[in-house]
Amino acid sequence: MVAVDRETDQLMGSCFYHPRETHVSLGIMNAHPDWFGHGVARTLLEEVCRVADADGKPLRLVSSALNLDSYSLYTRAGFVPRSFFQDMVIEDVSRVPRPASGIRSAILDDLPGIVALEERVSGIRREKDWHYFLTDDHGWRVVVKEAGGTVNGVLASIDHAGSRLLGPGVMVEEETAQSLIANQLQTDRGGNPVFLVPATSKGLVQTMYSWGARNCELHVAQCRGEWVEPQGVVMPTFMPETS
Ligand SMILES: CC(C)(COP(=O)(O)OP(=O)(O)OC[C@H]1O[C@@H](n2cnc3c(N)ncnc32)[C@H](O)[C@@H]1OP(=O)(O)O)[C@@H](O)C(=O)NCCC(=O)NCCS
Repeated sequence: MVAVDRETDQLMGSCFYHPRETHVSLGIMNAHPDWFGHGVARTLLEEVCRVADADGKPLRLVSSALNLDSYSLYTRAGFVPRSFFQDMVIEDVSRVPRPASGIRSAILDDLPGIVALEERVSGIRREKDWHYFLTDDHGWRVVVKEAGGTVNGVLASIDHAGSRLLGPGVMVEEETAQSLIANQLQTDRGGNPVFLVPATSKGLVQTMYSWGARNCELHVAQCRGEWVEPQGVVMPTFMPETS
C-alpha cells in the first residue's frame, strides 16, 4: 500500500501487508523523510487496520524494540507487545555442536505436518508461505525434526544478498530449537545469519551464549486483536513473511 501526494505525485510512504488464513501480517512500514511526523504512517496503518477488521482478523507484526518511532506508531494504534526477542548472531561456529539425529531437509510432503505444528505452537496458519519456502529456489532452506511421523520442529533460513536470516521456525521443545539452529548454522548460508530467540526461552538463550552468540538487536511481536499465547518456541524474523 502506498501514500501519494495528490498535488506532486510524490511517494509519501509505503507499507506491506499480507492477509493470511488466521490473521493479517504487517511488514515494512516507511514514510518519506520529507513527510516524517505528518501522519503518513498513521494513515497507512489505519487503512490496514480497516482491511483486518473487515476480514475479522487480528493484525500481527514484529517490530524493532529499539525503534521508538515505530513502537509508538503501533502501540498508539492499539497494538499490544506480546513476545520479546533477542536478535543473535554467532560469528565463529566452532562451539556449535553437531546436531542430534532426526533432523533432515524438509520436502513438500512435510507441508501438512509443518502447517499443523505452527498452528499448535503459534495459533496461526499460513500454508502458502510454507509452500513457498519449500519450493522456492532463490535461497530458502527448510529443515525439520520428526519423531514417529510427527513434525516437532521446523526452521527455515534465507541466504540472499539482501537478507541472511534463520527463521521463521516453530518448535515444541527448546532442545529441538537448539538442534535445528545448529543444523542451519553448520550449513554454509553465505555468512553469519541473524536469528531471533524468544527472551523467555531461558535455556535456549543460555545455550546460544555458550555457543558464542552475541545480541545485535531486540524485536517485539505485537498484535492488534486476539492473541494466542505460544505453546512452544517461536522464532520469527523481522521480515514481512514472518508474523
Ligand atoms: C516509523 C515511521 C514509519 C513513522 O512515520 P511517520 O509518518 O513519521 O509517523 P506519523 O507521523 O504517522 O506518527 C506516528 C504516531 O507516533 C507518535 N509518536 C512518535 N514518536 C512518539 C513517541 N516517542 N511517543 C509517543 N508517540 C510518538 C506520533 O505523535 C504519531 O501519533 P499521532 O498521529 O496520533 O500524533 C517513520 O519514522 C519511518 O519511515 N522511519 C524509518 C523506517 C522505519 O523505521 N520503519 C519502521 C520499521 S519497519
